Parts: sequence; structure tokens; C-alpha cells
Amino acid sequence: MKNIVLTGFMGAGKTSVGKKLSEKTGMKVIDTDDKIEEDTGMSIPDIFEKMGEIKFRELEKKAVEEVSKLSNHIIITGGGVVLNKENMDNLKKNGTIVYLYADPAVIYERIKNETHRPLLRVKDPKKKIKELMEYRAPFYANHDIKIDTSNLTVDEVVDEILKALKDKL
Ligand code: S3P
Repeated sequence: MKNIVLTGFMGAGKTSVGKKLSEKTGMKVIDTDDKIEEDTGMSIPDIFEKMGEIKFRELEKKAVEEVSKLSNHIIITGGGVVLNKENMDNLKKNGTIVYLYADPAVIYERIKNETHRPLLRVKDPKKKIKELMEYRAPFYANHDIKIDTSNLTVDEVVDEILKALKDKL
């Protein structure tokens, strides 16, 4: 069975949806950010702070290469995985790309009290979210299935994904 690959902006719900999806389907779940943290023994904010974003993207590319070799997994990707074409080509070899979208205002509400995302630790996170989402829109367009999670619960998103996957068969 092919992997289900969850892409989408920070706060789009990839982690909670991935876990629920795993519970419902019995498929194992793996998260590229968790893998990077395990491989390096460092937290994502520490990697950004001590090594910079470019180095983080290299580690991310390596993690993506490895998880792409799996099958029958739910793969949760970091929000920036889509930026690298090679990452997407690898993930697509044995995976269906499910893009979780949410409106910028919804993203802001979801992330405003969180501190573990270095890219959003800025003076005006609302503006940053809009800018990043606009810049990344063409990259997120690289998907098989898109779900707008803005007004859905985690369970509803999971049901939508399962329905869309069935329709694709
Ligand atoms: C990033 C998203 C984060 C994490 C890192 C960079 C991004 O993952 O990989 O902070 O560039 O969008 P989440 O999408 O799980 O927050």
C-alpha cells in the first residue's frame, strides 16, 4: 500500500490529522521533523539557531529521502518540505500527496500561543504567515488531494481524506 503524505503550512493540522489517520487505518505514522530531531539529538529551534535554515533544509532532505523508501506509512512532513522539488519527487514515488490547507487567519489562531516554530518567531507573525503562504502557494499546488481544513474538526478532515483516497482508486 502506498504512503499517505501530508503536506501543508505550519498549523494546518498535519500532526493531529496524521495521528488520527494512523489510529483509524492502522497504518504507522512517521514525521520528518521528529526524524530530524532523533537523528541529530537536537530540537528544531536549536537546529535553526545553531546551524541555520540552510543546514536544516539539508537534514530535512536526507530525512525525506529515507522516509520515501517506506510503504504503508502516513508521512507527516514539515511545512517547508514542498519547497524542494527533489523532496516531492521522492515522496511521490510511493505516496499520495494530501495537502492540508487552512486560511491564514485560521493558521494564526492555531499557532499564536506556540513557540516551537522558528520561522514564526517574529514581530508580526500574521504578516509573516501571509507572506510565506503566498510565496509557497505554487509549491503546495504540487499535490494529489487538497482538503480545506479551515472549518473542519480533525475527525472530519480524516474522513474527507479517506473518502478522497477511495474516490481515487
Ligand atoms: C517549517 C515547518 C515546521 C518545521 C520547521 C520549518 C516550515 O514544521 O519543519 O520549523 O518551513 O514551514 P511544521 O509544519 O510541522 O510546523
